[in-house]
Amino acid sequence: MSLIDRINPKRLPAHVAIIMDGNGRWAISRELERVEGHKEGVASIRKVMEAARKLGIPYLTLYAFSTENWDRPAEEVNSLMDLMVHAIAEETEELKKNHVKVHCIGDIDRLPDYARTALDKCIRETASCTKFNMIIALSYSSKWELTQATRQIVREVINGELRESDIDEETVTSRLTTRGIPNPDLLIRTGGELRISNFMLWQCAYSEFYFTDTYWPDFGEEDFYKAILEFQGRERRYGKTSEQLVPDLLSSDAVTDDDLSATLN
Ligand code: FPP
Repeated sequence: MSLIDRINPKRLPAHVAIIMDGNGRWAISRELERVEGHKEGVASIRKVMEAARKLGIPYLTLYAFSTENWDRPAEEVNSLMDLMVHAIAEETEELKKNHVKVHCIGDIDRLPDYARTALDKCIRETASCTKFNMIIALSYSSKWELTQATRQIVREVINGELRESDIDEETVTSRLTTRGIPNPDLLIRTGGELRISNFMLWQCAYSEFYFTDTYWPDFGEEDFYKAILEFQGRERRYGKTSEQLVPDLLSSDAVTDDDLSATLN
């Protein structure tokens, strides 16, 4: 049975977030410039987005450029910006055709004007699409985002719009760049590193993590399905005991560990 056929459509994650790592190493291992790895990485985005749409997963976040990535050599930063601008411009019509709404989270004021303009155009033109959401984390870091939210909350308290005693988790959640977007159920990181690199620290409090050694340019539809299958084999307890979980979540059509290893081996 193929991997996609083993996926339980009743237990899909609503939101998958991906730390796309390994582009540079993919390129260097082929004696290519690092930018070639990023170019090939754009092809992987297309494959994974197609896989997510095929399954009916409504939210896909891609960590495209972190706040810390601004410290890379200027040449690489510029190539990445050019690549993203071209990819976004080239894909906008296709995104609209497929009813994909593009969102961007991050400190986009730091982007060069031409990049911000291209991104704004794509966001505007896909704003009414409702079938699928692609969230690009660009110039993003979770500490930056939490700092912004804290500043906003303090401002509101000072202005008398918010009482300190009314501050709760929802107060913070609704001031993050991800407001209105469900928390990631599954966080995938390619490229072999076992860390989350300042990515959605608040939102990933109860996400399932999936790490793979595969470099992002080599990651395709089948790898995505493998990650979804592993996710479906996890028991999400949110601090409770197994016995307390809703029986539905433990239903017999759920993928068991044995099933999964039989498929993956
Ligand atoms: C990490 O690999 C990847 C990035 C910093 C950039 C990822 C960006 C893209 C694939 C383009 C995105 C385009 C759009 C339109 C969203 P790395 O360079 O850190 O790899 P390494 O760890 O092997 O050096």
